Amino acid sequence: MKICRICVMISMCTCVLFILPVSLAISPHMNNFPVSTTSDDAQTAAAKAVAQRLLNIKAALFIIKVNKTISHDNKDTFQVVKDTATGKVNITGSSGVSACWGLHHYLKHYCNCHISWDGDQLLLPEELPDISISVSALDLYRYYQNVVTTSYSFVWWDWNRWQREIDWMALNGINMALAFTGQEAIWERVYLKLNLTQKDIEEHFCGPAFLAWCRMGNIRGWGGPLLSDWHLNSLQLQHNILQSMRDLGILTILPAFAGHVPKAFKRIFPDVNMTRMNTWNEFLDRYCCPYLLEPTEPLFRRVGNMFITELIAEFGTDHFYNCDTFNEMVPQSEDLVYLRNVGAAIFEAISYVDPQAIWLLQGWLFVNEATFWNQNRVQAFVTSVPLGRMIVLDLQSELIPQYGRLDSYFGQPFIWCMLHNFGGTLGLYGAAENINSGIFNARSMNGSTMVGIGLTPEGINQNYVVYDLVLDLTWRTEPVNLTLWFSSYVHRRYGHTTADVDKAWQFLKSGVYNFTGLRRVRGKYIICRRPTLRLKPWYWYNTTELKLAWDGFVSAASELSSSPLFQHDLVDVTRQALQVLGDGLYTQIVRGFQKKNLPFYQENVDLFLQLLEDINEILGTNNQFLLGVWLNSAKRRATYSVERIIYEFNARNQITLWGPLGEIRDYATKQWSGVVSDYYYPRWELFFDFLRLSLITKTPFNQTHFAIRVFETVEEPFTLDNSSYPDAPQGNSVEVARRLHSFWRNSSVWSELVKFMEPSRVNQEPISNNSEIEIKISEEDFEPHVILV
Ligand SMILES: *[C@@H]1O[C@H](CO)[C@@H](O)[C@H](O)[C@H]1NC(C)=O
Ligand SMILES: *[C@@H]1O[C@H](CO)[C@@H](O)[C@H](O)[C@H]1NC(C)=O
Ligand SMILES: *[C@@H]1O[C@H](CO)[C@@H](O)[C@H](O)[C@H]1NC(C)=O
Ligand SMILES: *[C@@H]1O[C@H](CO)[C@@H](O)[C@H](O)[C@H]1NC(C)=O
Ligand SMILES: *[C@@H]1O[C@H](CO)[C@@H](O)[C@H](O)[C@H]1NC(C)=O
Ligand SMILES: *[C@@H]1O[C@H](CO)[C@@H](O)[C@H](O)[C@H]1NC(C)=O
Ligand SMILES: *[C@@H]1O[C@H](CO)[C@@H](O)[C@H](O)[C@H]1NC(C)=O
Ligand SMILES: *[C@@H]1O[C@H](CO)[C@@H](O)[C@H](O)[C@H]1NC(C)=O
Ligand SMILES: *[C@@H]1O[C@H](CO)[C@@H](O)[C@H](O)[C@H]1NC(C)=O
Ligand SMILES: *[C@@H]1O[C@H](CO)[C@@H](O)[C@H](O)[C@H]1NC(C)=O
Ligand SMILES: *[C@@H]1O[C@H](CO)[C@@H](O)[C@H](O)[C@H]1NC(C)=O
Ligand SMILES: *[C@@H]1O[C@H](CO)[C@@H](O)[C@H](O)[C@H]1NC(C)=O
Repeated sequence: MKICRICVMISMCTCVLFILPVSLAISPHMNNFPVSTTSDDAQTAAAKAVAQRLLNIKAALFIIKVNKTISHDNKDTFQVVKDTATGKVNITGSSGVSACWGLHHYLKHYCNCHISWDGDQLLLPEELPDISISVSALDLYRYYQNVVTTSYSFVWWDWNRWQREIDWMALNGINMALAFTGQEAIWERVYLKLNLTQKDIEEHFCGPAFLAWCRMGNIRGWGGPLLSDWHLNSLQLQHNILQSMRDLGILTILPAFAGHVPKAFKRIFPDVNMTRMNTWNEFLDRYCCPYLLEPTEPLFRRVGNMFITELIAEFGTDHFYNCDTFNEMVPQSEDLVYLRNVGAAIFEAISYVDPQAIWLLQGWLFVNEATFWNQNRVQAFVTSVPLGRMIVLDLQSELIPQYGRLDSYFGQPFIWCMLHNFGGTLGLYGAAENINSGIFNARSMNGSTMVGIGLTPEGINQNYVVYDLVLDLTWRTEPVNLTLWFSSYVHRRYGHTTADVDKAWQFLKSGVYNFTGLRRVRGKYIICRRPTLRLKPWYWYNTTELKLAWDGFVSAASELSSSPLFQHDLVDVTRQALQVLGDGLYTQIVRGFQKKNLPFYQENVDLFLQLLEDINEILGTNNQFLLGVWLNSAKRRATYSVERIIYEFNARNQITLWGPLGEIRDYATKQWSGVVSDYYYPRWELFFDFLRLSLITKTPFNQTHFAIRVFETVEEPFTLDNSSYPDAPQGNSVEVARRLHSFWRNSSVWSELVKFMEPSRVNQEPISNNSEIEIKISEEDFEPHVILV
């Protein structure tokens, strides 16, 4: 089967055909997925509204229409044609999403525009460029969200921010996304029908910033209680979200019952087989270990049915349901019959109520518990559901794809996903080369059941470039030349480009954005970590080239300083350079301490503390790096003062201690102005006081004693504090960056870093896509509380 995927008609109507080299052996059952039922007219109206919000009066330059019949193979298709008579550009999409995607495609590739989480660059040319193209997606789906993104990034969003994100989804062709808001309100109804008391429920739900882990049974009650006002607001928000997504033809994915139940279930149903969940990351009993109802128990089906029924009654359905029973825990038994029964029971609980249901599974379990989930067990589990009734999200395909090892999920469709980010931490990082090859390999692999490309970051608002790359590959038939692609990205993002900034981005492309290893990169950089004497820097990239990239940004500042996105990136790259220098200062401090060289020690301590002040200052000059923005958005969600206190505490705890006692401390840490000054800084200052005292009194440094003190005097007080922080930038990014560059650029500390660069050893381990995964954790990387999702 040869398909004309893209037909580019240039003015003289020449037809350039891109022929896909492989025939995609997608079985017929994969074309029977539920589709959007929204009418063309309603989708047209929704797409027009997106254009209006994006372009204001210039939206009138585009004639937008939706016509379902233009789709090829049920795949999203758009046609963009300039009408030379009117000077307007006609955009026809096979859905609202396709139409928006077509608009963005034109803005991006023909008008040099850019739309991102960090801001937009929408300077249109005087006259709209000629165009006549028709583009079809290569896969059925573009998918978005991790089950925890809702907690790390979306938790405090109001409707305006949500609307912007849904517009962004449509503009990028994303036609399938989680819609997880407001589910606790539904659960409350179910629990009350099952005779749980208000107190039982209150003890179960976590606070807003921790709901994702409560849903997965990892923790309970932490950061709560959840007041009725939260439910009311969230329900309203979810109705708006669903309406808006469905109007555009985006398929919404609702949650389903995975088996995790409140502790009170044991009291109410004493005879039912349920397992106490294992302790997750050492959370105390008060906050851990709800129960997992055995999927094969009749009560499982009953609760599952009640939930889905309530959910559909409130929200309607597009027939897609996410359900992850074994997230970060292994099943009771490895017996294949058991695993098959469990899979079938979970699906039954959904499909009994919604016979068209499709089960969407986050494949994190196959990565995280790869030893348990060998081929036979995965096969038993995923094929317990009829083929085509489950979609597996291959969750971290850019680094540890599982579709190869797991034989394309034994016939179940899967989505190639980039996870990329953990905990919404900052830090320049990405796997551009792997992305650029992985997507095409996965699609063309023998017997591939790939049906889409997804973005599954834990947190957003960082490293936009790699997200833009993935989204840009969803319509391309072959990998891009990354050199050229990065150049055009920079040009679009800033509106124009310079040789300096272009070269800077090429260094980033080959450096920070070319991670290809298996080591877990979790964003816990040294300045962000609780101090000890045992930390060790590590780089997969050439730090000298990072410095050269920083030079390039600073040189380009005179020409590009009027671009807000350039300013953002200048701050980001300065932040990265200073963060790396902090590593070098830290190692010198430790050396000074160990050699009992007080002057050398003190000199580096002073520099380190100055560096933290400098980082705080540069971050304070850009809106995207402010603690105040996060805290104020949390407080704005509150109606009553008691809520405001709970929400602010949630917001502060998530990005610092993450748990009452620092259970996954600094997992979701943020390099933001305010966090650096009032959390990292005093923490390091206290550490240095301890070391100095130890040097002067010639007594050993006691890490345990320090840990107790830092918790009591810095970490916990920060989470309980209610000081307010600016939510508007202060100072001029370019001026501050120049000043810091001239101070730090020629520091001798840069040479200290070279020994931690280990590209030859660490960065070149092959990615095993066919064998068992072995995650290597080196000693300095080891943390008692390892993570995850
Ligand atoms: C939709 O497109 C088809 C061609 O694919 C065309 O025949 C039909 O007239 C269009 N419908 C509308 C309402 O424009
Ligand atoms: C563009 O759309 C308008 C309005 O539907 C239509 O009159 C015109 O013929 C279209 N132009 C082209 C080139 O398709
Ligand atoms: C809830 O309690 C009522 C009254 O005691 C009882 O009739 C009902 O069966 C109980 N429901 C469940 C699900 O146990
Ligand atoms: C509970 O379920 C587990 C796993 O299926 C099984 O091993 C155990 O025997 C069951 N216990 C009871 C009391 O049914
Ligand atoms: C698996 O890895 C090999 C070697 O890295 C590569 O050649 C192959 O294309 C990969 N296959 C898939 C399906 O990613
Ligand atoms: C692809 O898979 C089919 C069926 O499993 C097999 O017959 C064929 O040899 C495979 N082709 C390649 C190139 O591996
Ligand atoms: C990518 O483009 C650059 C600039 O045109 C060229 O020098 C380079 O050879 C190309 N790389 C590949 C792999 O084609
Ligand atoms: C990325 O790294 C790989 C392996 O380390 C290397 O082969 C490749 O050339 C690098 N790509 C760029 C753009 O530097
Ligand atoms: C790092 O980059 C610099 C500048 O390009 C180069 O001189 C140096 O050899 C590189 N170091 C390593 C270890 O690759
Ligand atoms: C270190 O501090 C802890 C906590 O204050 C204390 O219990 C312990 O005895 C100290 N260890 C030494 C070797 O002094
Ligand atoms: C902040 O907390 C203090 C006590 O901890 C309280 O007196 C004060 O009213 C709080 N301020 C605000 C704005 O809530
Ligand atoms: C760093 O040193 C080089 C060589 O001595 C000099 O040319 C450059 O201007 C210095 N850069 C800064 C920012 O001071």
